[in-house]
Amino acid sequence: MSTKEFDVLVIGGGPGGYVAAIRAAQLGFKTACCESNPYADPKGEPRLGGTCLNVGCIPSKALLHTSHLFEEAGHAFESQGISVGTPKIDVAKMIGRKSTIVDQLTGGIKGLFKKNKVTLLNGHGAFAGKTDAGWHINVGEELVIAKQVIVATGSAPRHLPGIPVDNKIVCDNVGALDIDAVPKKLAVIGAGVIGLEMGSVWRRLGAEVIVLEAMPDFLAAADQDVAKEAQKLFTKQGLKFNLGVQIGEVKVGKKGVAINYKDKDGADQKLEADRLIVSVGRVPNTAGLNADAVGLKITERGMIEVDDHCRTNLPGVWAVGDVVRGPMLAHKAMEEGVMVAELMAGQAGHCNFDTIPWVIYTSPEIAWVGKTEQQLKAAGVAYKVGKIPFLANGRALGMGDPTGFVKMLADANTDRILGVHIIGPNASELIGEAVVAMEFAGCSEDLARICHAHPTLSEVVHEAALACDKRPLHF
Ligand code: FAD
Ligand code: NAI
Repeated sequence: MSTKEFDVLVIGGGPGGYVAAIRAAQLGFKTACCESNPYADPKGEPRLGGTCLNVGCIPSKALLHTSHLFEEAGHAFESQGISVGTPKIDVAKMIGRKSTIVDQLTGGIKGLFKKNKVTLLNGHGAFAGKTDAGWHINVGEELVIAKQVIVATGSAPRHLPGIPVDNKIVCDNVGALDIDAVPKKLAVIGAGVIGLEMGSVWRRLGAEVIVLEAMPDFLAAADQDVAKEAQKLFTKQGLKFNLGVQIGEVKVGKKGVAINYKDKDGADQKLEADRLIVSVGRVPNTAGLNADAVGLKITERGMIEVDDHCRTNLPGVWAVGDVVRGPMLAHKAMEEGVMVAELMAGQAGHCNFDTIPWVIYTSPEIAWVGKTEQQLKAAGVAYKVGKIPFLANGRALGMGDPTGFVKMLADANTDRILGVHIIGPNASELIGEAVVAMEFAGCSEDLARICHAHPTLSEVVHEAALACDKRPLHF
């Protein structure tokens, strides 16, 4: 067994890990990153980018884009005087395009490692002990000794007992991104982010999509104004939601599934479908790290225990991303990765957990940052609301997409922005302005006084800020 020594070893090459490794190397640390490589690579090489690039954010957004164009061609073009006949989808081509983008980006991270002098190690990392020289980590057949370790092992899909995932008939996120033909009937268990995004993809392409959700409320984490609007719009588009269900026995055959469940009134129901996507959350990847051997603390919920600065209970061992508390989002993982590298270098690394944006890439998109109205009510905070529909915006009308609204919540006494909730076109991009404003402790008056280009969708954010002071100009 050969031994290699580094200042920093990052375990896991997803957004948390690869970004931490690049930043650590930029700050002068001799850095390595090991990746256990579960993603199929034609050359058997380690693929960087983790869940996000390989089987998450990027491939899902590629399929959302293609299916959105398909739907536009079939339903929206005609109203603007464009005839293209009935569009057809070549699923293999769509999946191939998605895979090309994934290959391009995962390869790109390797290039970034070279540029920043990060050593890429191919293998699973597991703690082996500690000496004065540093932490001992087994990486495949090699022993790595590192002064500091960043665990960024991410998460894996949660599966349900009695529902075996083969990623053909019954899929988690991996199979859902590679379905080879449009299912006639697609069942989805879990009306969360993956259920809504992947359900939208296959619904747009022609599948009948039925979503079974355990919770009685739709999108409980979102502002309830937004959640209600979303449920109404998605239902109108054809997604069918059964909320408050309890999943019973699921029978899987060669051609489909039969799902027995109790509906919200406790009545027995059966749903037959030719494919099933199980999207009921994700679990942190800590098995196989040999955490017990070194006493690395894992919480009851299976996450590595960390403080606000991602320090674990072990000196010189840090953990970032999906494997620790907080939202399982790529940009949150990256923020933490940068913070840890900067803290290791003695800098003032920081991650503001109050301004992490959420985005759901459906149509319309949903995006928010900060507190929801129900959270402010529960906390007894006095707030004011500015809410403006996209219907009042010339650009949205011109784009043929005047759905949804921007809702701004500001402190009734200080005017400080407490939350911004958007459902509408390009919400994913519009939320950036709200994040900047909140990061700099901005008030609604600050946004109200900023000149917004005309005609743009961002004018709706501007109007929502004006509406907080009851002086919108265009509504
Ligand atoms: P991961 O990306 O999971 O990376 C961890 C890496 O560590 C993996 O490559 C794994 O192979 C490796 N690894 C694990 N154990 C070991 C070990 N012992 N040794 C070596 N390597 C190891 N987030 C967003 O912000 N926006 C989105 O649009 C979005 N879309 C998503 C869509 C889907 C379908 C899914 C499933 C997720 C999506 N996410 C999205 C979430 C996002 O993918 C994750 O939050 C993000 O990937 C977490 O990054 P990470 O680095 O913590 O972990
Ligand atoms: P999720 O947590 O978003 O949603 C899971 C849903 O499944 C919840 O509504 C939950 O109530 C429901 N559920 C749980 N158990 C159930 C059961 N037994 N029967 C029926 N319903 C059940 O998880 P999801 O969609 O799997 O996504 C995982 C994570 O990946 C997300 O939380 C998010 O962090 C990340 N992600 C982010 C995206 C984005 O940023 N756009 C896109 C996709 C995923």
